[in-house]
Amino acid sequence: MKLCVIGTGYVGLVGAAIFSDWGNEVIGVDIDSAKIEKIKAGEMPIYEPGLAEIVVRNIGEKRLSFTTDMAEGIAHAEIVFICVGTPQDDTGAADLSAVLAVAKQIGESLTDYKVIVTKSTVPVGTNERVYELIRQNLKSPVEFDVASNPEFLREGSSVEDMRTTDRTVIGSNSPKALGILKNLYTHLGTPIVECDLRSAELIKYASNAFLATKISFINEIAQICERAHADISTVAKGMGLDSRIGPKFLRAGIGYGGSCFPKDVAALYRTSTDQAYDFKLLRGVMEVNERMKYNFLKNVTLHLGKNLSGKSLGVLGLAFKGDTDDIRDSVAIEVVKVLRGMGAKLKVYDPQAMYNSKRVLGEDNISYCLDSYEVMEKSDALFILTDWKEFGTIDLSRTKNLLANPLIFDGRNMLNVEKVQNMGFVYFAVGKRTNGVELLAEKDKVYQKAVLNNDH
Ligand code: UDX
Repeated sequence: MKLCVIGTGYVGLVGAAIFSDWGNEVIGVDIDSAKIEKIKAGEMPIYEPGLAEIVVRNIGEKRLSFTTDMAEGIAHAEIVFICVGTPQDDTGAADLSAVLAVAKQIGESLTDYKVIVTKSTVPVGTNERVYELIRQNLKSPVEFDVASNPEFLREGSSVEDMRTTDRTVIGSNSPKALGILKNLYTHLGTPIVECDLRSAELIKYASNAFLATKISFINEIAQICERAHADISTVAKGMGLDSRIGPKFLRAGIGYGGSCFPKDVAALYRTSTDQAYDFKLLRGVMEVNERMKYNFLKNVTLHLGKNLSGKSLGVLGLAFKGDTDDIRDSVAIEVVKVLRGMGAKLKVYDPQAMYNSKRVLGEDNISYCLDSYEVMEKSDALFILTDWKEFGTIDLSRTKNLLANPLIFDGRNMLNVEKVQNMGFVYFAVGKRTNGVELLAEKDKVYQKAVLNNDH
């Protein structure tokens, strides 16, 4: 099939690459000419394992090309995918300006029947606006259909996710459009949910909001574990083995971040209020997520005090999760900013997110290290803020020798409590009654008082 993919961010670039790998002829379009030139040269604008090889190979086999000329891309295609960004605006709603601008341009360039498919995450009713905008901007009467085909890709594993998706959602009010899109996906052999436009739009938000709810739920249980002498990893394991619950998205930590969950949860809440409904549970999910980093920092301030000037702290992890260079809405970055604000000097390392972090954090009281061990040198404490696998396998005796104090704050539960404590570290994690928490509890009841008064 002949496809055009507008927008070469995570969704668009991965989509274009995989569609072409399935044998389709794909043109990727972006207004950013520097980005297009880079991609053509095989240089990926994002860190996504496996992506570069697929892009380069399909360009070589002439199934995949890139242009800044949207009209050229549209003219070529039977199906046009809109994959531009929908960031959060000041009111919590999704900013649809890029989607609507593209729809207008599509209308202006349409000369024959095509299916226009929105992959960008857009609130209920947006595809109807897209349809109207295209119709209003047609230069001559042309038949076309719109469809919603949300993606469920996770950053860092999006290539794999697109190839082995659990399901494909296709929403359209046109049976012809549904048929054309089904042809594109049937070979995957996984379930295809065919539905109306609005249900498809909502499936995406409801899925992300539900996963975010799972995370906030387990993070709340973690708070109880820490106080009630239970262990969150064991509790999550015991819960997750129930097939009705499932083991995924039950990892407690300092909260969810990234380019999707925070904005999609806020946008769904906004949709509910727009529909005169107060989605109370979602309000709680957002509030809990915001609080998680302070629950983590509470142990830091109770142990080290609120004034951290003169302290040198080592930080492992800056990306919003492991396996990505993305720092958008990264809780790790927020924690770093708070620690710096309390006067600490920081040494930081992330396997992929150093460049992006430097642009956001600058160099004021932060030095950027080449690896985990450089971070540890003479640091008064070590923080683990992103779940990169390599942080879970750090050499603990080397760590102990390098740190000025054997003190670890693990915001992602990456280390084995027993092992760390047996080696003489004071250890804090999330949802675990570690020796660090015991120390605080014993000290002078400050811990209980602070917790009871919510004064931290
Ligand atoms: C998410 C959805 O998973 C994906 O389907 C959608 O298309 C885009 O949004 P992504 O943002 O790439 O994908 O990251 P994901 O792996 O879902 O993690 C989101 C955040 O939740 C990260 O900050 C992660 O660290 C956190 N998380 C995830 C937890 O804190 N605990 C968990 O158990 C799982």
